[in-house]
Amino acid sequence: MADVVLRGTDLAQRYESRGRRVVDALRGVSLELRQGATLGIVGESGCGKSTLARLLVGLERPTAGTAEMSGESMSTLDGRTRARRIQLVFQDPYSSLDPRQRVRNALREVLTFHRLHAGAEEQRIEELLDLVVLGRRFADRYPHELSGGQAQRVAIARALAVEPTIVVLDEPTSALDVSVRAEIINLLIGIQSRITISYIFISHDLSMVRHVSDDIAVMYLGRIVESGSYDQVLDAPAHPYTLALAQAVPVPDPTVVRPRRAAPAIAASSPITRGCDYQDRCPLVESQCREVAPTLDDVGAGHRVACHVAQRRARTP
Ligand SMILES: Nc1ncnc2c1ncn2[C@@H]1O[C@H](COP(=O)(O)OP(=O)(O)O)[C@@H](O)[C@H]1O
Ligand SMILES: [Mg+2]
Repeated sequence: MADVVLRGTDLAQRYESRGRRVVDALRGVSLELRQGATLGIVGESGCGKSTLARLLVGLERPTAGTAEMSGESMSTLDGRTRARRIQLVFQDPYSSLDPRQRVRNALREVLTFHRLHAGAEEQRIEELLDLVVLGRRFADRYPHELSGGQAQRVAIARALAVEPTIVVLDEPTSALDVSVRAEIINLLIGIQSRITISYIFISHDLSMVRHVSDDIAVMYLGRIVESGSYDQVLDAPAHPYTLALAQAVPVPDPTVVRPRRAAPAIAASSPITRGCDYQDRCPLVESQCREVAPTLDDVGAGHRVACHVAQRRARTP
C-alpha cells in the first residue's frame, strides 16, 4: 500500500452568516490520498465538493476535523509552504490567470515567488509548457489568446511549477467544450506517468472521474456515501445513489440547470434530520432508513458504504 500523502479526518464546515440560513456544507468527511494515486470525488452540485477542496488545501479552516499532510495540519502551515505542497486548479481556467500577463510571466512569477530554478527560469518555463503539451510559442500569449483548453493547460502548468506533492482539480473539465475534456483528462494521466504526483479529481460527472481515478469517493449532501477502489465503487456500486450516477446520462453543460423530474428533490443544503439523507430519492428505502442514519461502514476490503440495505446485502452470503 502506497504512503498516504493527505488525510482528511471528520472534516466539517458550517457556514453561518447573519440573516441567512445555516449551511452544513460538510458533515464529517474522512479520506486518504495515496502517493502517486488519484482520488476521484463525485457528487451533484451543492454537495460540498468545493468546500472540501478548500479545506484540504488549507484555504479555509474547518469548523471541525483536520486535514493533514505527513502528520502536519494544513491550517497551521504558512501559506507559502502549503502552496509548495498542494495546489488547487479551478473550473474556470481564465479566473486563475491575470488577463494582462503573458503565459511566460504567469509562470515566471510562480518560480520567482518560490525561488525555484533561479537563473534558469526560462528553461523551466519551456519544460513546463512541454509537460502540459503546449508549444513554446504559447509562452508569449495573453490569456484571451488562448482557448479554454489551452488556458486550462497553462493553469495546470502553473500549479505544477512549484513541484507540488498534490494537485486538487476542482471540476477542471466542466467549463470546457466536450471535445477538449478528454484531452485534459489524458494530459493529467500523461503527467502522472512522468512525474510522481497525487491528484484529487473533483467532478459532478462520474464519466469524467472514472477515466482518471484509482480510488473514488461519492458525496451526497456533505457526506461521503460510498468510497473504495475504482473496481469496488464502479464495478460493484453498492449505494443506490452511486448506481443512479452510474446510470445517468452525462450532462453536457453543468451550468445549465436541469429541471428535476426525480421527485421529490431535496435542496442540497437541507439534509434530512432523521434517518438516511437519501431516503426520499431512494428506490430501496425501508422503514429503518426513515429512523436511523446509516454510517459509512466497510463492506469488504476497504469498500465503504453508508446504506442499510447495501450493508445487509454484504453481510448475507
Ligand atoms: N462561503 C459560503 N458561505 C455560505 N454557504 C456556502 C459557502 N460556500 C459554499 N456554501 C454552500 O455550501 C454548500 C456546498 O457548496 P459547494 O462546496 O460549493 O458544493 P459543490 O462544489 O459540490 O457544488 C452549498 O449549499 C453552498 O451554497
Ligand atoms: Mg464546486
